[in-house]
Amino acid sequence: MIEVENLVKKYKDNIVLDSISVNIYDGEMFSVMGPSGCGKSTFIKCLVRLIKPDGGRIIADGKNMAAIDDEFELAKYRRNFSYLFQGGALFDSLNVMENVCFGLKYLTDAEPSNYERIAKEKLSLVGLNNVEELEISELSGGMKKRVSLARAIATEPKYILYDEPTTGLDPVTSETISDLILDMQKKLDITSIVVTHDLKLAFSISDRVAMLHAGKFDFVGTPDDFRKSDNSVVKGFINNSIIDENNHKNGRE
Ligand SMILES: Nc1ncnc2c1ncn2[C@@H]1O[C@H](COP(=O)(O)OP(=O)(O)OP(=O)(O)O)[C@@H](O)[C@H]1O
Ligand SMILES: [Mg+2]
Repeated sequence: MIEVENLVKKYKDNIVLDSISVNIYDGEMFSVMGPSGCGKSTFIKCLVRLIKPDGGRIIADGKNMAAIDDEFELAKYRRNFSYLFQGGALFDSLNVMENVCFGLKYLTDAEPSNYERIAKEKLSLVGLNNVEELEISELSGGMKKRVSLARAIATEPKYILYDEPTTGLDPVTSETISDLILDMQKKLDITSIVVTHDLKLAFSISDRVAMLHAGKFDFVGTPDDFRKSDNSVVKGFINNSIIDENNHKNGRE
C-alpha cells in the first residue's frame, strides 16, 4: 500500500496539490480524473518521486518517500514503478526491441542473454508479434502505446502509472488499450494508477476513481458511487464529458 498524507506541491505561487490524502491499496486499479491542468500528472510524478513534494508524506514500505533526497534510495524506490508518460516517450533513435529492453539493464537483474526473450514475451502479451526490428517512426499511434506498455511491464514493476493512456487514439483503439490495461492487471498482479480525463476508460477499468479539483481530491470512491455522486464538481465533470462525446459524435470537433 502507498499512503499519501497531506501532499503539497506548488510551482512558485501556483499551489497545484493542496494537501492530498489517499491510500492506494495493493492490487487495485486507481484512476485520477480531472480537467486539463488540474495537477494529475504532477500527482503521479510526486508518487514516483520524479518531482519532490513541498509538503506531506508518501509512505511506502514504512518509509516516507516524500522527504528522501538520497539518489541511491530514490533509485531503489523507483525500481518498483513503471511510468507510461503522457505521449509515450519512446526513443525514436532506438528500434522496438531496444525500446522494450531499455530499462532491463538499469532496473532489473535480468541477464543480457535473456533480454531478447523477455522483449518478445512482453510484446506478445500486448498483442504485437514480429515488430522487434521496426523503427518507432514505422509504428501507428496505437502500436506506440502498446510498445510503451510492453516496455513498462518488461521490468516487472509493482506499480504501473499510466498518464493519459488513451488520449489521441480512436475509440476502437482506445478500447483495445483499456482491455490491455485490465488484462495486464489480472495477469501480472500489479497495482495500477491511471491518470485520465476519459470517463469511459476510468469507469470501465477502475476499482476506485478520484476527482482532482482545486488541489484536492473532491471525491474518492467506486465508479458506481461516482456516477451517483451529488458532488457538484463530479456532476459537472460527467456532464461536460457527455457533451464532449456528443459533439465528437456529431462531428463538431
Ligand atoms: N514544471 C512546471 N513548472 C511550472 N508549472 C508547472 C510545471 N508542471 C506543471 N505546472 C503547472 O501545474 C499545473 C498542473 O499541471 P499538470 O501537468 O500536473 O496538469 P494535468 O492535470 O496533468 O493536465 P493535462 O490533463 O493537460 O495533462 C498547471 O497549471 C501547469 O501549468
Ligand atoms: Mg497531464
